[in-house]
Amino acid sequence: MTDLIRLCPAAAASEGQPQDVDLPGLPPLVVYEVEGAYFVTDNICTHGKARLSDGYHDGFVIECPLHGGSFDIRSGAPKTAPCQIALRTYEAIIDGDWIAIAAPAPGR
Ligand code: FES
Repeated sequence: MTDLIRLCPAAAASEGQPQDVDLPGLPPLVVYEVEGAYFVTDNICTHGKARLSDGYHDGFVIECPLHGGSFDIRSGAPKTAPCQIALRTYEAIIDGDWIAIAAPAPGR
C-alpha cells in the first residue's frame, strides 16, 4: 500500500482560491479544486520565483501573479508566455476529509 502525505483539508481549497502547502521535505505545493475534483502542482512558477497560489485561478488554469504566464493545472503544461517549462504535477488523492499525495519512493 502506498504511503500518503496529507497536504490540507479538502475544504481548505475552493475554486478560485487554491491552498498553498508548505511541508518539510516537500517542495512548496498548491492544491486546487475545480468542480469537486482536486489537483496538486508545485507552487513555484517555472519562469521565476513567484508563488502560483498568489495568482489567478480560473478552472484548469493558474495564472502567475508576477508576469501573467499560465499553466494547465491538470498536466502542468505551460499555456501562455513567458512560461515555457512545465510545472510538476502530483496525483491528488482523497484521504477522508483530506487531500493527499503519494509519498515519494525512498531515494527519489
Ligand atoms: S515568474 Fe511566473 S510568469 Fe514569470
